[in-house]
Amino acid sequence: MCGIVGYVGSRECLDIIFEGLAKLEYRGYDSTGLAVVGKDSKIYIEKSEGKLSKLRPLLKNLPQIASVGLGHTRWATHGAATTANAHPHVADKLAIVHNGIIENFRELKAECEAKGAQFKSQTDTEVILHVLIDLYKNNRDMKKTLLSLREKLHGAYSLGILVEDEPSTIYFVKEGSPLVLGYGEGENFFASDALAVVEHTRKVVFLKDGEMGRMTPTSIELWDEEGTSLEREPLTLDLSSFHIGKSGYKHFMLKEIHEQPAVMAKTIQRLVDVDKGTFNEAALGLDAIDVTKIKAIHIVGCGTAYLAGVIGKYILEPIVKVPVQVELASEFRYRDPWLNEGTLVIPITQSGETADTLASLKHAMEKGCQSLAICNVHFATIPRTAHGTLYMEAGPEIGVASTKAFTSQVLCLYILAHALAAKLKHDIPVSSVMEALKALPPQVEHGIGLGPVVEKISQTYYEVQNCIYIGRAANSSIALEGALKLKEISYIHAEGYAGGELKHGPIALIDQHMPVIALCPKDRHYDKMMSNIEEVRAREGKIFGIGALGDLKFQSICQDFIGLPQSSDEFLQSIINVIPLQLFAYHVACKRGTDVDQPRNLAKSVTVE
Ligand code: G6P
Repeated sequence: MCGIVGYVGSRECLDIIFEGLAKLEYRGYDSTGLAVVGKDSKIYIEKSEGKLSKLRPLLKNLPQIASVGLGHTRWATHGAATTANAHPHVADKLAIVHNGIIENFRELKAECEAKGAQFKSQTDTEVILHVLIDLYKNNRDMKKTLLSLREKLHGAYSLGILVEDEPSTIYFVKEGSPLVLGYGEGENFFASDALAVVEHTRKVVFLKDGEMGRMTPTSIELWDEEGTSLEREPLTLDLSSFHIGKSGYKHFMLKEIHEQPAVMAKTIQRLVDVDKGTFNEAALGLDAIDVTKIKAIHIVGCGTAYLAGVIGKYILEPIVKVPVQVELASEFRYRDPWLNEGTLVIPITQSGETADTLASLKHAMEKGCQSLAICNVHFATIPRTAHGTLYMEAGPEIGVASTKAFTSQVLCLYILAHALAAKLKHDIPVSSVMEALKALPPQVEHGIGLGPVVEKISQTYYEVQNCIYIGRAANSSIALEGALKLKEISYIHAEGYAGGELKHGPIALIDQHMPVIALCPKDRHYDKMMSNIEEVRAREGKIFGIGALGDLKFQSICQDFIGLPQSSDEFLQSIINVIPLQLFAYHVACKRGTDVDQPRNLAKSVTVE
């Protein structure tokens, strides 16, 4: 979603800001803009619809000798992705960039219009600008203006503000959407993600909601929502978690698919001692939790993280022996679920910034729940909010369509379930669990090695308009995840169903034109799945089967077939099964010529509701 980059210093800042925005491209955006303060203390801007490559040639129109500026990548919420709606918005010697949504923008806009404000865009951001101008006119003091602005705005907003009256200063405010400050030598930065500043400084402060301040080349002042000055000690970022590059792969998504065996191995090594059969409770975040209090578990997440949570329900409930619910964070936060000190809430999130997941976590904590986040990004808002965090350590995931984060989340849930059970002194088959874990990375590697076979199969399917995925138990969620991957990056309409649900509706769609991707590993659901597959065949549906290596019975009834190594554990099998589905979506998308890493309309980090 929207990305913000700000710089004050002595260097020429156009490239610094532009390169910072390029680092945030992965978040998803549809228009861009950049503002700088010239040597004459005036604000200059350039904006464009579309990608950063369209903004680049426009930068020559800006003063080149400028060392204070703001940049923005916009993901449209209010108003289409046009140049007029792109940020920064400028009027009356003020410029503003914004990440978030202002819920009362209609009322505020009417107030501003009544006072004579002229709007050039349809955005809620321009409404903030005019409220700001009005407040600033009255008191000529930006700190006081920001304190009053906060009282007027309802919603989520991270703001960067330039004021011609103070040409070496940038003001910033954080409420809801993320904002990080970077402390340099004779220069300072801010951005919506540390990725944009880490090349210049590793010393950062992650702002909390309600915080605001101003930065000059040599100082950063911070205030709380009452205007009281704050002292915050900067953290030092670990550079290794920011190494991003395609490493020779055509797309980040393909690279991230290929990283999965290594991620699995690293995760297992960090969380478990497979030889001793013990769990690393500190790395699992369990030190922060009183497990004896857990009477129920609620898992919350969005998108792919939610689907990992669905598998988590299958895994956790029988092993931990407490009721487990899994819910979309956007529903959970408004449903008023029954929560108390006996509930452990587990938010699952790659980015650690998803607005609905964060709001669900806060809601559960207000009700007295214990919380244990499963998150990939260090220092993100969700791990800083939860009581404990299990860091996935999957490394940066740049492709918008989640792959290695998903398999890592499922693996973390699997290990967490057994660690919780061990801590609660439940009987668990430790040695077979450890054996299954040891076998997992090479099994995933085997699946990835089938890439060329999957690519060939994708040739048959890349022009279809619809596709159905089916599976049972944990694989019903893999069916949903496979369908989600396909629709996200290839824009083919795809749906996932539990095999048993087929005859309650979706079977009406089956005919010779409907491909059905069926997950049928050699597990206790095999016979039931085979019956579902026969029901599809009886209606001339085409089967692309994902089954066990050497399962000739299943293979013989499939038009296309991928045989995979079988884990001794049905939950870990679901991780192996998703690999060909990721590769399938990838190759179909490549054949259709879509933007694999930054699919249309999608954002990696969804920081608004
Ligand atoms: C977006 C991304 C998905 C991701 C979801 C949840 O929709 O495109 O890939 O699964 O957000 O994000 P999170 O960072 O909370 O895992």
